[in-house]
Amino acid sequence: MKIGLFGGAFDPIHNGHLSMIVGAIDAGIDLVVVIPSARSAFKRGHSISAAPYRYYMTETAINGLKPSYRDKVLLSDVEYKLPGISYTYNTINALIDDGILEESLSKQAKSSIYNRYIKEQNEFFWICGSDILDSFDKWYKPGEILKRATLMVANRPGDCDNEDFVQKSKSVSERFDTEIEFFKIKGLEAASSDIRKNNNFDSVPSEVRKFIETHALYKDEHILDFCSESAVTAFYEYAIDLFFVLSSKRLLHTLNVAIYAAKLAKLHGANTDKALIAGVLHDCAKELPIEVQQEYAVIKSGDLFDNEKLYHSPAGAYVAENRYRIKDEEILNAILYHTTGHGGMTDVEKIVFISDKLEPARTYSDLTEMRAAALSNLNEAMKMVTEEIYEKFVARHQGIHPLTNAMMKDFL
Ligand SMILES: [Fe+2]
Ligand SMILES: [Fe+2]
Repeated sequence: MKIGLFGGAFDPIHNGHLSMIVGAIDAGIDLVVVIPSARSAFKRGHSISAAPYRYYMTETAINGLKPSYRDKVLLSDVEYKLPGISYTYNTINALIDDGILEESLSKQAKSSIYNRYIKEQNEFFWICGSDILDSFDKWYKPGEILKRATLMVANRPGDCDNEDFVQKSKSVSERFDTEIEFFKIKGLEAASSDIRKNNNFDSVPSEVRKFIETHALYKDEHILDFCSESAVTAFYEYAIDLFFVLSSKRLLHTLNVAIYAAKLAKLHGANTDKALIAGVLHDCAKELPIEVQQEYAVIKSGDLFDNEKLYHSPAGAYVAENRYRIKDEEILNAILYHTTGHGGMTDVEKIVFISDKLEPARTYSDLTEMRAAALSNLNEAMKMVTEEIYEKFVARHQGIHPLTNAMMKDFL
């Protein structure tokens, strides 16, 4: 079986990427394994969207392919399972030698492909654009990569007549004593960096465009420029770690809260690092078994949080402290009280509380006014959010937690 491996940052994934997947299948590849990077060797710092945004955007794009293509595509989280920077050499080894590809095929119920993978002799290809010809010798262990996989370079109309292209292909081929395969794609020119820079998403599939809008991507991520290097690194790492702990919806909510909270912190002169970290961890315990949540909640706060729906806030503070080694009391309290609030909240606590209710993907009611208030006046936003909570409690004839009562006294 011919297996094509296609890695990238996919920030965002665009029609050019999809034309490569489709082109490789048309050229006889039986399975394309799409591998969004977790930590990229080339794209570091604040200029990249947190890994799960890119992974789920890619998933959305793949789901939008015609079934005859989609059935031959596997989205791989292999790079989330590897420590450190995602080098292609390590990724290929993990997929093939460590059995991660076999495991993913069996899990994703692609049974006919799985059977072929087990029974047949498999041949691997590294699918890439022609720009790879400029930089391949600078990759980590390029010679070793080529022992495992053949380079399969996308060929746009006209490339073959282009002397530069032909010369570069020849030079890579001679230097590494390898054959390069070429495959035709439609002449779609697109680059993620241009899409972001020009804020023009015409070459992005409509489903992905919707995803970008829902999560307000490429709008506020420069907000990370106002956080410290160590906080941003931690944010990216927690996002990767939580990938295996939270469902896609909750993880994306979590990332949205972190970025929205950092934005509010910047606007209101609060600590952006604390807002970012408390935001990304605020729901980290929410999908633990309820008995575990209860156990951690009791260790953290005794019987203060006596309701199943509330356990995950003290449990989250417990996990933040013990798994993620957070020592800062204000961050821990922002997580601890994100469900109930309490009297005399700090700005960071207020910001995380509000962000949880107002992050861009929230649609439970018309949030326009509350969002506007959050940008201009933190206490006014707290008042509006608190009023809404109060009305909900009254409508449901629910008792109000003493901590929430204390918070309400501050704002109503
Ligand atoms: Fe929560
Ligand atoms: Fe939340």
